[in-house]
Amino acid sequence: MKWRETVKEIAPYVPGKSIELVKEELGLDEVIRLASNENPLGPSQKALDAMQAALPDAHLYPDAPATELRVRLASLYGVDADQIITGNGADNIISVLISAYVDEGDEVLYGSPTFPAYRSSTLLMGGTPVEVPLTDDFTFDLEGLKAKVTDKTKLIFICNPNNPTGTVVDSDALENFVKGLPDHVRVVLDEAYIEYVEQEDYTTGIDLFKKGYPVITTRTFSKYYGLAGLRVGYAIAHQDVLEPMLRLREPFAVNRLAIIAALATLDDEDYMALHAKMNREGKAYLTAELEKLGFLVYPSQSNFLFVDLKRKSDDIFDGLLKKGFIIRPCNSWGYDQHVRISIGTQEQNEGLMKALQAVM
Ligand SMILES: Cc1ncc(COP(=O)(O)O)c(C=O)c1O
Repeated sequence: MKWRETVKEIAPYVPGKSIELVKEELGLDEVIRLASNENPLGPSQKALDAMQAALPDAHLYPDAPATELRVRLASLYGVDADQIITGNGADNIISVLISAYVDEGDEVLYGSPTFPAYRSSTLLMGGTPVEVPLTDDFTFDLEGLKAKVTDKTKLIFICNPNNPTGTVVDSDALENFVKGLPDHVRVVLDEAYIEYVEQEDYTTGIDLFKKGYPVITTRTFSKYYGLAGLRVGYAIAHQDVLEPMLRLREPFAVNRLAIIAALATLDDEDYMALHAKMNREGKAYLTAELEKLGFLVYPSQSNFLFVDLKRKSDDIFDGLLKKGFIIRPCNSWGYDQHVRISIGTQEQNEGLMKALQAVM
């Protein structure tokens, strides 16, 4: 059967190597993955207990609109529950958003390098991805993005903090940028890592939305909240913006256990505080140790580091793999000297540095 032409342009997604596969291929007993920006603490104990208690109800469909979760998020952020849509991970939300808005020939702008889903979903709809390189220090070139806006521009994605660079956009510059756009363009703030931002006085998409700007914010429970395997994402925007997305959304996009786990995690403040502290300390430790080896570590406001190894990353990646550490080479973004390293537990971070020293 003949493929749709647009599908041919989409490269297959290459996930980080799985722990199981590396164990099997290399005959290792223990493998640590610091490649997918997962939460090294594992899920919150409250989430585990809540899921355990809910297992006997697994034969029942979940609440399709995930009302309890949306009501909880609405009160957390001071918006209305009908200004929130949930999905099977933020990936699914991004895909539903692009499917709802991007027609053949429409342009979707974003900085590059960034999260690859904006490109693939746009291509799938017959839209045109327009990439604007980040600045030399890997921050968003908002002027450059604005200069690329045309009559065909539909959406502009700003990944804040950006994956894979960990950089954040300046708050005033972001507000001015949003303010100065024509009416037919909407900004989407992908805030998968926003809970990790440590710098003071930063503006989120939700702040802008509450100030009356027509922005769309996407978020996830996969990172800070430790539920990547369960797939819970959401978007916050005006109800009119969400309406076509609700028509396209799979009815039961978020499963019963995932809803229960997300709610329980939001109640687990100790878990979040512990994770924030672990991430902050791990980031400082890894940055200092990597710099001692002569690498360039970009300042990160997330749970990963973007590192310039100043040589091709292949040998170091392979060497670490043999020692049971998976990191993420940035070749797929066109950076063959850079890697992205997720921040682990202190023990994992120390193990990584020991392995790296041996490989070097
Ligand atoms: C910037 C960004 N947006 C969205 C996602 C998707 O997250 P989810 O696991 O909720 O699909 C990721 C996952 O890595 C990400 O890095």
